[in-house]
Amino acid sequence: GRHKVVVCRDLGPDAMSLLKATPKLDLVVWPHDRGCDRTWLLDNVPGSTGLVVMLTDKVDSEILGRAGPSLKIVSTMSVGYEHIDLKAAAQSGLKVGYTPDVLTDAVADLSVMLALMASRNIGIATALAREGQWPNHPWSPFTLCGPQLSTIASSPTRKVGFVGFGRIAQATLARLVPFGITHCLYSSNPSSPTNHERDAELARAYKLQSVTKVDVDELARESDFIFVLAPGGRDTYHIINEKFLKQMKRTGILVNASRGTLVDSDALAKALREGWIWGAGLDVVEGEPSVTIDHPLVKEPRCIIIPHVGSATLETRTAMAVRVAQNLIAGILGGSMPAQVDLSGYR
Ligand code: GLV
Ligand code: GLV
Repeated sequence: GRHKVVVCRDLGPDAMSLLKATPKLDLVVWPHDRGCDRTWLLDNVPGSTGLVVMLTDKVDSEILGRAGPSLKIVSTMSVGYEHIDLKAAAQSGLKVGYTPDVLTDAVADLSVMLALMASRNIGIATALAREGQWPNHPWSPFTLCGPQLSTIASSPTRKVGFVGFGRIAQATLARLVPFGITHCLYSSNPSSPTNHERDAELARAYKLQSVTKVDVDELARESDFIFVLAPGGRDTYHIINEKFLKQMKRTGILVNASRGTLVDSDALAKALREGWIWGAGLDVVEGEPSVTIDHPLVKEPRCIIIPHVGSATLETRTAMAVRVAQNLIAGILGGSMPAQVDLSGYR
């Protein structure tokens, strides 16, 4: 028979032509270049075999129930999948495809950028130039100075900390090696076993003095730059809270390029306002995209905020879209999916 596939966004020419070239698919594509309306999704999902969603589309038991037993696969254009009710998906015997790996480099690039922007006051500096204020702020010894990411003779150690130590965190670490990073601390899912051997191997490979798994308190206290690169969801909710921020160095930099829910926004705004930490670089904010000019973090000059563009390069978004199509096609035709979420823990 034929397979109805509901696609919540135009995926661009490469991925769309892959889908169109696949026999027996009836594509129903959201026709606008903005987030798909939930009512449109609810109206169109009944009787579908496949569903292509973005991280902005909530796939809960209502959607899955409305789709009915015909639904076999949900393919999301994201590495994160907390917008999908995995328990309900597992119980309905669905496959879930996602897009890891292809976005690792783009997000790692951006994480380093945020660290540099936040530490070097680039938000304040660019605003000053754009607003014609340069004449009033000529070069002067300590204007717009901030902590330095790379090591110099007078500061021969630099410790970076990672909350979450998966693909993106390790790709970020690799990019920081030429900056002269000496120590890497990380904390990750307490249930994942410590792997001293791998850590020692990483340290050797990157010529670091150490790569060490620590608890979040030690990580907060010891790190000069902290990168939050862990999955969203309940387990990591507000892992960066007032207690964490109070323990950070006053010259500490916090970067979040994972999910807004990991950082307590009010606590971070307070930390910046009261000088507990130096600055923050955020690609994600809790409650996004409802982050307007009266948001406490938007008002903080030492906070760089960009609207969730971590994977937004032409190359990466194209690769993600193609991966989404490949996952979907394999899921429907019964081949092995290039990247399938492991649902074994949810059954
Ligand atoms: C981006 O945030 C993603 O999950 O791909
Ligand atoms: C800066 O522009 C310098 O010349 O030191």
